[in-house]
Amino acid sequence: MDAEVGGGSAPKRDAPQPFTLVIFGASGDLTHRKLIPAVYRLFQEGLLPERFAVVGFARSPKSDEAFRAELRKAVETFSRAKPAGDDDWAPFAARLHYHRGDYQNAADFQALAARLDALAAASGAPRNCLFYLATPPEMIQAITDQVRAAGLAEAGGASSPWSRIIIEKPFGRDLASARALNAHVQGAFAENQIFRIDHYLGKETVQNILVLRFANALFEPIWNHKYVDHVQITVAETVGVEGRGAYYDHAGAIRDMAQNHMMHLLCLVGMEAPNSLDSEAVRSEKVKVLKTLHLIPPTCVGDRVVRAQYAAGTLAGQPVPGYREEPAVAPDSLTETYVALKTFIDNWRWAGVPFYLRTGKRLPARITEIGIHFKPVPQVLFNAPPFGPMAPNVLTLRIQPNEGISLQFQVKRPGWGIRIESFEMDFGYAAAFGGEPPEAYERLLLDAALGDSTLFTRSDEVEAAWAFLTPILEGCAGQPITRLPAYPAGSWGPAEADALIESDGRRWTLMKRHTHRSTAKTK
Ligand SMILES: NC(=O)c1ccc[n+]([C@@H]2O[C@H](COP(=O)([O-])OP(=O)(O)OC[C@H]3O[C@@H](n4cnc5c(N)ncnc54)[C@H](OP(=O)(O)O)[C@@H]3O)[C@@H](O)[C@H]2O)c1
Repeated sequence: MDAEVGGGSAPKRDAPQPFTLVIFGASGDLTHRKLIPAVYRLFQEGLLPERFAVVGFARSPKSDEAFRAELRKAVETFSRAKPAGDDDWAPFAARLHYHRGDYQNAADFQALAARLDALAAASGAPRNCLFYLATPPEMIQAITDQVRAAGLAEAGGASSPWSRIIIEKPFGRDLASARALNAHVQGAFAENQIFRIDHYLGKETVQNILVLRFANALFEPIWNHKYVDHVQITVAETVGVEGRGAYYDHAGAIRDMAQNHMMHLLCLVGMEAPNSLDSEAVRSEKVKVLKTLHLIPPTCVGDRVVRAQYAAGTLAGQPVPGYREEPAVAPDSLTETYVALKTFIDNWRWAGVPFYLRTGKRLPARITEIGIHFKPVPQVLFNAPPFGPMAPNVLTLRIQPNEGISLQFQVKRPGWGIRIESFEMDFGYAAAFGGEPPEAYERLLLDAALGDSTLFTRSDEVEAAWAFLTPILEGCAGQPITRLPAYPAGSWGPAEADALIESDGRRWTLMKRHTHRSTAKTK
């Protein structure tokens, strides 16, 4: 992470060394919607080195020209920075190349190596390579083997080129498969060459969690079991499976969202202060949180974990089908599209503080939010009749959308008597800083090109997350059910998830935004 004191000017970063970005899966959705728009934006901002190129690798035959035309369309459709015309596009297009190849064919990788050599020789730069695996996870082992066999996995040194590899989520399906995958990839690349990406960590608001906690004297003294009653983390999506039913039906909400996005948020809220912003220091503190999570054994899954599937319903006024009716989803599928769970961090700071996590598809709004719910004040004076009971303070970190931070607190309504109301003190990124923050993929691609792995998942981190979730998956797999609880698309989830938190005397809460008068509203 950049440490910038004072603010005002843009963070100062070194420019990456000359390099070639090799994208495997260059014809895919991720490449078109996220990667190339991000690379184009970095190029436009002058953040990439002069000697920089992209080589797209995929199976279908295609010319460089056809590839460039395809990517121009992608940038025009998905980028927040659109080319103004041919002259604007040409310098970027000249750096785009296409390489047809099969992931199982060694000769295609030898040819790729020769092409990368030729590109490097033509530019007079070392053959530094950043490989991006934008392919289905089943391809990871084959590609890393082929890259190594083609002599393209150089660790780099003072006079030799470097290579790094970015691997998309999901990384494994459970603890055993993640361990095996780590061992396999580490057989080809050293850990400091491996960048396991979860784009959530590239979001400004996620990075700001550490700044909020450790750059302010105010929060840290009360960030513990003495003052915090509980924590809620909500990752709500409005989308369904979006044409990815075949993938999703083998994944589900636990593997697709909880294992990565939600675990990262939980770690950043729960971790101790690292002694520096060094990537190893930050990630070691995150791992400690994962290792102290209170395990939910398979036999307790029924009490502490709620899974559900969306049924047909209405979203934004439009009828939408149920999960089992989605294309490529099994009609008797038991894959969850919603999960809620309760866990604890078993250390002194967080002893006895429940962390409630929930994520789901086809919910009424796209919202990612962390709520730190403080303990109520004593039930004397204001928190007692005739004034109370009062709502406790809640600090809400809005990760997306309407990125910002709110503090709900009590004030006296002006007038002769004493009437207490809850208000929100609100900080919004857009209002404070204007403009849009960099896209997560922009930030992360640049970090990987610079060799900074702070915002990428380390091998022990990915395994520790799976170590927590695998017993839950085992418990789910062992449940003798033919159908999961259902929630109508467009609702906030199943009644069972409400019962999970309400049985503890609490309620799911989301910040009521765009207003200054509030009592936190349920859901
Ligand atoms: N799309 C997103 O927004 C997103 C977000 C987060 C993570 N991811 C992850 O990023 C990766 C790529 O996602 P995607 O949505 O771009 O996937 P995709 O469109 O389904 O596939 C990407 C490319 O991989 C190649 N491919 C597909 N199936 C293959 C097979 N059986 N054997 C060999 N190559 C195959 C295809 O290229 P060719 O057929 O031309 O070779 C395809 O264009 C996945 O791991 C996904 O989980 C995606």
